[in-house]
Order: sequence, then C-alpha cells, then structure tokens
Amino acid sequence: MADYRELFDASMADPAAFWGRAAEAVTWTRPPQRILDDTDPPQYRWFPDGELNTCANALDRHVADGRGTQPALIYDSPVTGNKRTYTYAELLDETARFAGVLRGLGVGVGDRVVVYLPMIPEAVITMLACARLGAVHSVVFGGFAPHELAVRIDDARPDVVVTASCGVEPSRIVQYKPMLDAAIERAQFPPRHCVVVQRDHHRCDLIEGRDLDFAVLMASATPVDPVPVAATAPLYVLYTSGTTGKPKGIVRDNGGHAVALLWTMRHVYDLAPGEVFWAASDVGWVVGHSYIVYAPLLLGATTVLYEGKPVGTPDPGAFWRVISEHGVKVLFTAPTAIRAIRKEDPQGEYVDRYDRSALQYLFVAGERLDPDTYHWAVEKLGIPVIDHWWQTETGWAIAANPLGVQHFPVKAGSPTLPMPGYDVRVFGPNGQECAPGEEGAICIRLPLPPGTLQGIWGDDARYQKSYLAEYPGFYLTGDGGFLDEDGYLFVMGRIDDVINVAGHRLSTGSIEEVLATHPAVAECAVIGVPDEIKGQVPRGLVVLKAGASAEGLPEALVKSVRDEIGAVAAFKTVDVVPALPKTRSGKILRKTLRGIACGRDEPVPSTIEDPAVLEVLAPILRGEA
Ligand code: COA
Ligand code: AMP
Repeated sequence: MADYRELFDASMADPAAFWGRAAEAVTWTRPPQRILDDTDPPQYRWFPDGELNTCANALDRHVADGRGTQPALIYDSPVTGNKRTYTYAELLDETARFAGVLRGLGVGVGDRVVVYLPMIPEAVITMLACARLGAVHSVVFGGFAPHELAVRIDDARPDVVVTASCGVEPSRIVQYKPMLDAAIERAQFPPRHCVVVQRDHHRCDLIEGRDLDFAVLMASATPVDPVPVAATAPLYVLYTSGTTGKPKGIVRDNGGHAVALLWTMRHVYDLAPGEVFWAASDVGWVVGHSYIVYAPLLLGATTVLYEGKPVGTPDPGAFWRVISEHGVKVLFTAPTAIRAIRKEDPQGEYVDRYDRSALQYLFVAGERLDPDTYHWAVEKLGIPVIDHWWQTETGWAIAANPLGVQHFPVKAGSPTLPMPGYDVRVFGPNGQECAPGEEGAICIRLPLPPGTLQGIWGDDARYQKSYLAEYPGFYLTGDGGFLDEDGYLFVMGRIDDVINVAGHRLSTGSIEEVLATHPAVAECAVIGVPDEIKGQVPRGLVVLKAGASAEGLPEALVKSVRDEIGAVAAFKTVDVVPALPKTRSGKILRKTLRGIACGRDEPVPSTIEDPAVLEVLAPILRGEA
C-alpha cells in the first residue's frame, strides 16, 4: 500500500482520480462516469451522475456476499440489562420491513423522517430504513428538550417522527413521548404520524389517528427493496449548533458519504470486514451517524450499540467489559469519557480486570485530547491512543493518524496530519497565511473531499455566509489552531460562540436566547468555561432590568435552560452582574470574558466602551468574589 505522503499528494494533485479509485469499493446501481462536478464553485458535487442505495451497500450486499450470519449489530444495554446481536440477515430483514412500514405511511424519496430515539436498535433500523427508501432522516439527540426538537421539526418538516416511550438514564427514566407531544404542539409543521417504540420500562399513551405502535406495525409489515437514488441526493440532515440560537441542518449526500466512510474504515481505523468496531457515542451526533451506523456496516464489520455510560453503569470498568465481551478491535469515544473513567479509577484497576487482548486502538474525538488524559490512556491501555479532529460538517476526520496506512509518532495535543482530500491552511486576522507555529483560523481549501457537507438544509445563504464568505475559496472550520514545522495540526478550540460540553456541541447563543426571555433580564452573555470532566461548561452572566429582583433568579434561569434546551446543556451557573463589557458599537466582549474566566491575562480591548466594567467582573469570573 502507498504511504501517507503518496496518498495525500495524489489526493491534492488529482482529487477526481483519487476519489474515483476509492469509489470502486462502493456498489453502484449506476457507476459514476463523472467524479467531481466543479463547474459551479464554490458549490461542488461528487459523483454527479452516479446512482446507488446506501442501505443496500450497508446490508444487502453483505448478505449477498455470504455475510448473512455474521453479527452486524451488537446491542449492549447495561441500563436495561438487555443484550442482543443482529446478524446481517436479521438487520436487513428488520430494516426492509420497517422501510415497508414507512412507505405505508406515505414516506418516499426525499421525504423527511425525524428520529427522536434513545440508543436502541430501532434507531439504527429507522435510519437504514429511510436510506432504503431514499428518504432523508434527521436524528435529534434524546437529551434535547421540546423547544429544540420543535425547531428541528419545523426546519425539516418531516412526514413522520419515530420515537420511543422513554429513554433510560442511570438516574431516571426520561419520558420521550411527552417531550415529543410538547414539541409537536409548538411546531408549525407537525408530522402526519408518530411511530412509537413502547419500551418495557415505561409505556406511554398514544394519540389516536396520529400515533402508531412500532411493534404492531412491524408485525404485519411487508419488506421493500432498496430504491436507487442519485449520489448527490440527501441521505440525512443533522442539526448542529451554530453561533446563533437556530441550529444548522447539515446536509449529507449518499454517494460521497459512502465512498468517504468506506475509505476511512481501512485507511484511518485499520479495520477489515468481520472485525468489531465500537463508537461509544450517541446516534444523535455525527460520530454516531458515521461510526455507529454507516461506516462499520458499509464495510461489513460488526458495530456495537451501547446504551450506557462510561461510569456508573455500573462502574468505571463498563467500557473494558464491553470490549472483552464482544472482542472490540477499535474503540472510538470522546476524551470526556476517558476523563470520567480516570476520575473514578485513577490507578486503572478496572482496566486490568478484563481481557482487552482484542483491543488494538483507541480513537478519540469531539474535543481536544488533553495531554494528561492522553498519557493516562496510553499508560493504562498500552495501545496507540489516537486523537482525530472533525466536525458534523465534515462527517469524517479532517486530521488523524491514519493507522491503516502509516503510524506516525504522536505529539500529545495534536490530531496529527491532514487526511487526504483536506488541504488545511491557517489564516491570520488579515487573511495572510500563518507561519508554522503561528495560531489562526483553520480553513480548508475547496473543494472539500467527498462525504462532507453539501450545504445547510433550506438555507443556502447561511451556508455561504457561515463557511465560505470569510476566506474566498476556503471553508472556514470555526476552529483555531496552528500547523507546526512538521505539518502536525494543533486544534486549540473554537473561535466562535460554539462550546463543547462533554463532547456535545452547543451554541452559547441558544442559551442566551433562553436567558433573554426572562422578564427580569435586561441583557446577558453565556461563555464556555473549563471543566475538569466535561472539558467545558456554559456559564451565564445576566444584567437585571431596572427595578427587577435577583431573588431566586439564577435557579429560575437554570431551570429554563434545562426545560428549553435540555439537561445535556449542563447549565448550572449564572451570576447577576451590574453590567457587561461592550465595545463602543455595543457588542458584548465575550472573548475577553472567556479569557478572564479561563484564568488568562486578557488584554483590555482598545474598543471597550467602559474598562471599569471589566474591573468589576474579573473577580467574579475568576471566582474570587
Ligand atoms: N436522553 C435524555 N437525557 C440525556 C441523554 C439522552 N440521550 N443523554 C444525557 N442526558 C442527560 C443526563 O441524564 C444528564 O442529566 P442530569 O443533569 O439530570 O444528570 C445530562 O443530560 C447531562 O448528561 P451527560 O452529558 O451524559 O453528563 P453526565 O454528567 O451524566 O456524564 C459523561 C458525563 C462524561 C460520562 C458523559 O457526558 C459522556 O459519556 N460523554 C461522552 C459524550 C459523547 O459520547 N459524545 C459524542 C462525541 S464522540
Ligand atoms: P461536532 O460537530 O459536534 O462533532 O463538534 C465539532 C467540534 O468539536 C470541532 O469544530 C472542534 O471544535 C471540536 N473537536 C472535535 N474533535 C476535536 C479534536 N480532536 N480536537 C479538538 N477539537 C475537536
């Protein structure tokens, strides 16, 4: 096999030739004659005349190739005590039948289906069933509250929502159905039908005429065949946080997605068909889409669907138990999970209680892998620990250590090198390219490789403005960092108002929107501050309206954020402050606030209207007042 440099250079010199070769690993109903449509920059389309079905690539072709009896999906749920293995033939059967159910409800090519489900097999089956029909799924993370769900329903305008009666968190049962009902009540574009998985822990009432029982429908369902769709047709929309309160619906195509994900399985993760891959994430996030559902199945590997936590279900040995029981070769999780394990098991006593001989690599993403956590994991596990950097928008790693090609020495704190297809550049404030070691805005030269976003659902103007306008010819990642003299990339954090809470991406803007609606609040700012386990947590600062009382306000605001956005925001701290620092044009100086709260020596910006405000706030932010 070629080495990394050869692959990377080939992908830069002739992207169409490079990805055309990669596309041979996909089963097309009409193989693409054209690889890249670059006639309308900055809009690029991969495999414009190709046609395929993603579900057929993930299931049918493996059954046809003799993998019918091989495990495709292992469901392991310590929170309920359930385990079940689906072979490829079983997963295909259930998926084809649920596709039949959806078709019976009027879902066809291009129609949207919102998926609001916990980590149960029905989530994977629903996603694949949508793909089978050429319908577009939009999975909403179960930790989001009704308001967030309603916003996504109104943007995606689904015909059907698939949900469950409840989720099972270690400390409580989360009733999904009342949240869905509340969201639908708020929505302007409610779905025609809701299909509900009734779980044993809690069964919910169904609304006659609208709600249907998943199991009842499946009992009489007729399987349907995969529907070939254009490679450029949307496979899914996944909402992610932008800098405003309104989430961005990232659109993923079918063809580029299948080609890119298949490529990564061998080249980045060094996985072969039949081996076991476990992404300990959630299907509500991009990691879950790409690496719980699609990539392992596209390859013909076995994927693990884990309904549990790194700690507390029942102890910090949970991950190592799953690895030993299911023979996991590659574990992919977020650094926050490793920090949580380390906190409860600093000596690694649980690590050594299990047979981890199958485990060859630990990959992490979702936030920067801090050097401390990196060293702990290497010492305790004794295997390569690989940080890799990506985003919902890209769907797969922008920078990684491509273990299937070449294992580069790790530099702690760096996700190593740009992957083929990604021409990563760092720009300074005046648009000049930064020298090695100099920090700036991380950008990627267009075209982005296959599998990356096609745009924002229904909002092309926002797509252009958010990503393409600032540096013409480049995609702006929203992350800051630098390339060192060896070409290693260091990603230091967001340069916008997006924060990362326990690997969950959230917008401070959406939290501010909730705070601002309280009648006592005149103005507010939310910033991300460091947290030992979660990496970052949001912190609110509010200024009272004249005559308003601060009595009970922080508690009320914490509750509002939990009710409106969800528990997952982990919003616990609000300070009532006399004023917020602003520029003379009235913009709140959030970056300065962030810097002070992080303990940095922040220079007082020259644009500040009243420096005295900062003097009052600094001790509060540093926890000294
Ligand atoms: N449905 C409903 N509620 C959910 C939920 C879901 N799917 N997921 C989380 N929540 C709730 C939790 O119950 C918790 O509620 P609480 O405030 O009542 O306790 C809250 O949201 C925060 O949950 P979580 O982020 O899981 O924090 P935690 O303190 O319970 O656990 C970690 C901390 C580090 C163990 C956990 O965040 C974790 O496993 N993170 C990994 C994240 C990840 O995989 N990210 C994907 C990127 S690879
Ligand atoms: P999401 O879209 O939810 O996957 O979040 C993407 C964001 O998470 C990125 O823009 C980064 O800010 C952060 N992120 C993800 N992986 C890494 C990583 N390996 N190193 C640093 N930041 C990361």
